[in-house]
Amino acid sequence: MKIKEYRTLFIQELSPIYDIDEAESFFYLILQEKQKLKRIDLALNPDLTFSNDEILIWNSILEQLKKEIPIQYLLGKTCFYGLEFEVNQNVLIPRPETEELVEWIIQSSKYEVGSWKLEERSITILDIGTGSGCIAISLAKNIPNARIFAIDVSDGALATAQKNAKSNKVEIHFIKTDILKINDLKKLPTSHFHLPACFDIIVSNPPYVRELEKVEIKKNVLDNEPHLALFVEDDDALIFYRKIVALAQKNLSPNGQLFFEINQYLGKEMIDLLEKMGFKNVELREDIYGNDRMIRGTR
Ligand SMILES: C[S@@+](CC[C@H](N)C(=O)[O-])C[C@H]1O[C@@H](n2cnc3c(N)ncnc32)[C@H](O)[C@@H]1O
Repeated sequence: MKIKEYRTLFIQELSPIYDIDEAESFFYLILQEKQKLKRIDLALNPDLTFSNDEILIWNSILEQLKKEIPIQYLLGKTCFYGLEFEVNQNVLIPRPETEELVEWIIQSSKYEVGSWKLEERSITILDIGTGSGCIAISLAKNIPNARIFAIDVSDGALATAQKNAKSNKVEIHFIKTDILKINDLKKLPTSHFHLPACFDIIVSNPPYVRELEKVEIKKNVLDNEPHLALFVEDDDALIFYRKIVALAQKNLSPNGQLFFEINQYLGKEMIDLLEKMGFKNVELREDIYGNDRMIRGTR
């Protein structure tokens, strides 16, 4: 079958669920990944064909797209902060809002923080709830003087993050732990590396979607992405933040910085939490969509 003809059929089949531009972009993404062909190759060679075996593979992808399985899981990878990350159903698909948080941290690491310049000496960073490793690995790539540690409770997430650190050629010290059960970061269970006495930067994008907000979540996210990464109870939405702020009070260096991605509806509550726990220079920022999405405080 000619690829051009299959493209028409593919887009038609997806049209009840996706708009035409999105269906077309899926087609070309898969063409690039599975056939190593670009849009221009098809334009220049309109008679290119798929073999029967190739059509079977494409049909299977098409069926999964119809079930609204995210394209990133089907291709097994995504791009974040200019880097490639393996993703699977053990990890949240990294979001563009999180790239903005990473950018903020990288910029902050270049300027004076309190009495010292971060870029002038080796610094330590801890990423809590690392998932695919997207935050920790992007920071490692862009802050060369950083020693980076990353925590997750999920074995599947940690295995994926480990692969991503390797493929992106950075060293991250991964630690499996349930952050809600830890009272001192110095006592984290590590086997073959030493923990620093305190961290210069702690960052976290913890689960923050309330059950009551499930109605706002798209079906493809709800049905496919790990609920462990997403949801918290309605009556204790800040459970992870309270815990991490308390740990940061103890384990962040003086003038060290705490960064969070947050629930867009809880910006004010987050400012109160950080200020009540004694953090200075608390700054809330919006994401590109104009939602309160990230916050920083200095110890
Ligand atoms: C919102 S995802 C963030 C993933 C990644 N950092 C990102 O920004 O895309 C939250 C992560 O926290 C992890 N997590 C959930 N509960 C945890 C716990 N009690 N202790 C440690 N990590 C936890 C999940 O496995 C998930 O990887």
